[in-house]
Amino acid sequence: MSSRRCDVLVIGGGIIGLTAAWRALETGANVVVLDPAPGDGATHAAAGMLAPVMEAGFGEQGLARLGTASLALWPAFAEALERAAGLPPGAVGLETTGTLAVAYDGDDLAVLRRLLDLHREWDLGSAEISPDEARRREPAVGQRLAGAAWVPRDHQVDPRAVHDALTAVVVARASLVRRAAVSLTWADGAVVGAVDEAGTRYAAGTVVLAAGHASGALFAGAPTRPVPGTTLRLDADADRSPAVVVRGTVQGRPVYAAPRAVRPDGRREVVVGASSDEREDDHLTRAGDVFALLRDARVLLPGLDDAVLLETTTRSRPGSPDNTPLLGWAADGLYLATGHHRNGILLTALTAAAVDEALGAAPGGTEALAAVEATARFADPRRFADVYSTTRGGTA
Ligand code: GLY
Repeated sequence: MSSRRCDVLVIGGGIIGLTAAWRALETGANVVVLDPAPGDGATHAAAGMLAPVMEAGFGEQGLARLGTASLALWPAFAEALERAAGLPPGAVGLETTGTLAVAYDGDDLAVLRRLLDLHREWDLGSAEISPDEARRREPAVGQRLAGAAWVPRDHQVDPRAVHDALTAVVVARASLVRRAAVSLTWADGAVVGAVDEAGTRYAAGTVVLAAGHASGALFAGAPTRPVPGTTLRLDADADRSPAVVVRGTVQGRPVYAAPRAVRPDGRREVVVGASSDEREDDHLTRAGDVFALLRDARVLLPGLDDAVLLETTTRSRPGSPDNTPLLGWAADGLYLATGHHRNGILLTALTAAAVDEALGAAPGGTEALAAVEATARFADPRRFADVYSTTRGGTA
């Protein structure tokens, strides 16, 4: 049985795990990342919604605070990542052009208005606009609309471009091992490493657990569950597709469309999402989910009818008991960065700042540090300590 020693072992090579690895590298640490298929989990399906406003529902003010704090850190995070990866500015596709929220019928509008009342209470900046104003802002929106709102603080980024950039940085400076971790190693109540599926033992000063919905199988104090969702990738004519993110409700069913930058051939990728199920993890796309997403997307954005359906992708979000992330120390030697549920991409920038703070990396500035301090309590993994054991291993 072979063994390796490192300063920081990151379990999980999705957008969160590689972000943690990059920040650990900035401390000068020797870093190993374990993942059998880096980036092939929730990151692969994610549309890249940076939506602290429309993703926060009733009772989720803590999540709204985390999301808002993270959104503010995104421009500096994207810029630093592009620089580290040797990419030109804008390469990770951060767009801060706002979001149009639309309601298909009167019942959908009633729900949207209740949400707008909540946003007003929480001072999130969204406001109702007329259907005509909605079509003026986004001409791709169709005629059948009961109402709309402009959401100036919800944006988007290209998650696959972000993951590619992180991969470039991490592969150049760390060891990326394409194997799954099967257990953590404990000594005197502290986590001191992990064992991978080939039996290799890793001794590490710090283990960062960022294995998405599978985190709970390694540590009972990370009570994650899979929340599978399907997204579709369309190739659309720029003139017949939206230029800003559009999200809507069609007879109670949520749908969104995130348009990427227009290519020189006058076409663009549009990501349509997303289903959301409470079931076991699998990568199988249900016909009914594709049907429902396309039916609802084309009713709001009729020009998408002509688009080419390039890809259907189903992966599991990492849910937590309160659908808010687990971000912080959970035991000596064990840092959790998991349970980001529907907001993994949005919360990547705050996760980077939290890992900086935890590992002593050069912080992304006083704003980043202040954001971590102001929001840490909402994501503290020890909030579940009374319910889930934090001194033993996995539940699987
Ligand atoms: N963040 C959107 C989703 O999870 O579908």
